[in-house]
Amino acid sequence: MKNPFRSDSPAAAESRPCVLVIFGASGDLTHRKLVPALYNLELDGLLPAQFSLIGAARRDFQDDTFRSGLEKSVAEHSRRSPLDRDVWQEFAAHSYYVKCPFDEPSGYQALKEKLDEIDRNAGTCCIKVFYLATAPEFFDNIAGHLAGTGLLDSSSDPQCKPRVIVEKPFGNDLSSAKSLNYALLRHMTEDQIYRIDHYLGKETVQNLSVFRFSNGIFEPLWNHQYIDHVEISVCESIGVGSRGGYFDTSGILRDIVQNHALQLLCLVALEPPVSLDADAVRDEKVKVLRSVRRIRMQNVADRTVRAQYLAGSAAGEPVRGYLEETGVPAASKTETYVALALAIDNWRWAGVPFFLRAGKRLAKRVTEISVHFKNVPYLLFKKEDVPSLNPNILSFQIQPDEGISIRISAKPPGPKVRVQPVNMDFRYGTSFGAEPPEAYERLLLDCMRGDATLFTRNDEIEQAWEIVDPVLEAWQDASTGVPVYGYEAGSWGPVEADQLLSKYIGKGWHRL
Ligand code: BG6
Repeated sequence: MKNPFRSDSPAAAESRPCVLVIFGASGDLTHRKLVPALYNLELDGLLPAQFSLIGAARRDFQDDTFRSGLEKSVAEHSRRSPLDRDVWQEFAAHSYYVKCPFDEPSGYQALKEKLDEIDRNAGTCCIKVFYLATAPEFFDNIAGHLAGTGLLDSSSDPQCKPRVIVEKPFGNDLSSAKSLNYALLRHMTEDQIYRIDHYLGKETVQNLSVFRFSNGIFEPLWNHQYIDHVEISVCESIGVGSRGGYFDTSGILRDIVQNHALQLLCLVALEPPVSLDADAVRDEKVKVLRSVRRIRMQNVADRTVRAQYLAGSAAGEPVRGYLEETGVPAASKTETYVALALAIDNWRWAGVPFFLRAGKRLAKRVTEISVHFKNVPYLLFKKEDVPSLNPNILSFQIQPDEGISIRISAKPPGPKVRVQPVNMDFRYGTSFGAEPPEAYERLLLDCMRGDATLFTRNDEIEQAWEIVDPVLEAWQDASTGVPVYGYEAGSWGPVEADQLLSKYIGKGWHRL
């Protein structure tokens, strides 16, 4: 049996003892994502030696009740099943619960005592990671109390600097994001803050940089001379489910585009960083975001399409429309679909449109980036009855069916010259024979190791809000006359989204 707590495990030996404290320990994220991710890290022997977990929340739990709740969730949500009981028992033995109402100093005192006890038992100062998996209105309060209790002080050992992971949403617009940054920075330094965007932890997203910067043949073509346009699609088949109340205050532009989709755009468009250090990579992402042309109020109607799903079907079953979902006001104008045409004003990308779309209740769940190359300069096969050619497309399938494919033209066998598009394919499953880990596994581990490369920096978040804010403002202003279209649940979104692309490239979205 593998014992991830044993210090002779290679991964464990290289890292320091660590305690992860999750605020919001009884919440959905903890149960569906965070603890299953920790369990999978443990299965792989990747957790630091002497890892401990502390759940902090308002409810009255004992360690035992906390552990048995987690066990049920891990059994249900772990990517690998059935649960390995031996590994789980060892993990659970180092999981504790501390009752900590977020605004009561006594809870933080109890937390400090528990952390001191863990340090004493470890015989050293463990790295402390505080995960704020609560509603954002508690972030400032929790950070203030942690600082007030001395829990964010850098100890004499700089390796041991406490870290704070902040979940999204990071603000609701530029001004609230700035206030939140300001509030957090009163209690800690920027290098202690790890802002999560779970898309950056996805294997396929990390592969974008590896693909671009470790293959000599693509980078020379990666610019306006050879690339016609780029499409980024984040399509979900699920509706808002039980999150109607929250979603209605957000909308898909804030929920997906401001963070996940713009991060994908950054990774496609960035210049080669000077190194893979956190700040070197993030500097390049910020440059991209600064180059994205801000959409002016008067252009929002021309460059964006927003829509809501209507009743339709999902997985063969009838489903209701957005306005009939629980928690959604009947007159809501919140968008569940958005399409945007963006321009990047820099040397590399001048004149190359970047189209982004995101939506709920679409025909299928698929996240894909497709890079569309310009066509050949001259059609040599006209006389052979080949009226036109399909340009090359390089597609990154982020999920599901993770992989990369390139559409090329080829001659089908036979006496006549004909030209047909075919795909060259790489699939993770077949090439590596392993299922990629969950994003949270990688991100939790990186934070414990003190690597912030895959976390978003203060200025990235603010730049992303600068892009999105004018669109939100124009949508809210009835005088701009940007309609909220409808689309049938289970379709590919409103026809107006295809018309948006047609204005620029003469055709609609690439078929997924
Ligand atoms: C979250 C959004 O950030 O990402 C959800 O709040 C969305 O609305 C989810 O469903 C999508 O994540 P994934 O990993 O399933 O693509």
